[in-house]
Amino acid sequence: MDPLRRLVSLAVTTSSSSSSSSSLTLLLALLFYAASAAAAFDIVPITFDEAYAPLFGDSNVVRSGDGKSVRLLLDRFSGSGFISSNLYKYGFFSARIKLPSDYTAGIVVAFYTSNGDVFEKTHDELDIEFLGNIKGKKWRFQTNVYGNGSTSRGREERYTLWFDPTRAFHRYSILWTANNIIFYVDEVPIREIIRNDAMGGDFPAKPMALYATIWDASDWATSGGRYKVNYKYAPFVAEFKDLVLQGCPVDPIDQYSSGHCYDKLALLEAQDFATVTAQRHAAMRRFRQNYMYYSYCYDTIRYAIPPPECVILQSEKERFKDTGRLKFGGSHKKRSRRRGHRIPLVSEEQPVM
Ligand SMILES: *[C@@H]1O[C@H](CO)[C@@H](O)[C@H](O)[C@H]1NC(C)=O
Repeated sequence: MDPLRRLVSLAVTTSSSSSSSSSLTLLLALLFYAASAAAAFDIVPITFDEAYAPLFGDSNVVRSGDGKSVRLLLDRFSGSGFISSNLYKYGFFSARIKLPSDYTAGIVVAFYTSNGDVFEKTHDELDIEFLGNIKGKKWRFQTNVYGNGSTSRGREERYTLWFDPTRAFHRYSILWTANNIIFYVDEVPIREIIRNDAMGGDFPAKPMALYATIWDASDWATSGGRYKVNYKYAPFVAEFKDLVLQGCPVDPIDQYSSGHCYDKLALLEAQDFATVTAQRHAAMRRFRQNYMYYSYCYDTIRYAIPPPECVILQSEKERFKDTGRLKFGGSHKKRSRRRGHRIPLVSEEQPVM
């Protein structure tokens, strides 16, 4: 019997004797919720050599003997990165990642899709970017979306995590279909963008490759560039394993020959991770309530009218100032009075443009 079942049966037997059926209901709901939230995606990892190649800093791209994992190093000479060998028009891009620990200010670890090498002026991009940390603070990360060269319209959201991403591997995923984009941390959807005609070309629509990189972003990554990379702690190592690529590989120039994609895309959209169930939606709301500390949708100084895909929730909106940052923790005074509460310091944070 697995531990979860044992707990449930334990709960049933103990509670029938204590006749407290409402707490039983609650307990069961909790357990079943935990079980369904923990149910891993039905995905098949591929080896590094099957689908990826080093992108830069080749000597800092270190594959494991079995090809199932790869380490990206940043030292004083170079960062490093890898790229998928194909471009995909729609897909699921996923990896289990462990971030470098200790002092990592100024370091960015990025897991993203892009076609910037092919379409310089009209590129598309979907980002998960980890923004370094200073000791004792939480790692922060952001997601972002660009379509057809919309680099003047950043769509950043920033968050912390409910776990320490340097202690263990966690799965980070980007789903991109013709209808929606979902960013996942483990099995929790943290952001969904539903395609909307008003977005026009801002919704990515050209084939993209998957990129993973580690690099020195001292000038902006950590607290807007206040904390730089300190090479005393080098090399910085980000580990990737259980890489997953699903979707339709497409020739970026001759993308209209993508008739062969029909079945693959039907398969993609039928996957478990392509649907935000009611349960997952509740998990997403909880994540955003507890861990999102910046959203472009609430940054009315930057966007007087929120971009068309924004879903403005009154309960969410009340937590943010018109800079899109959280209302509390916004000043040093408040912060020092609340010392010990580990409120993320966001006042000096600048969105990446
Ligand atoms: C993308 O941008 C190019 C160049 O500005 C423009 O010609 C094209 O119509 C745009 N595509 C979409 C789908 O908006």
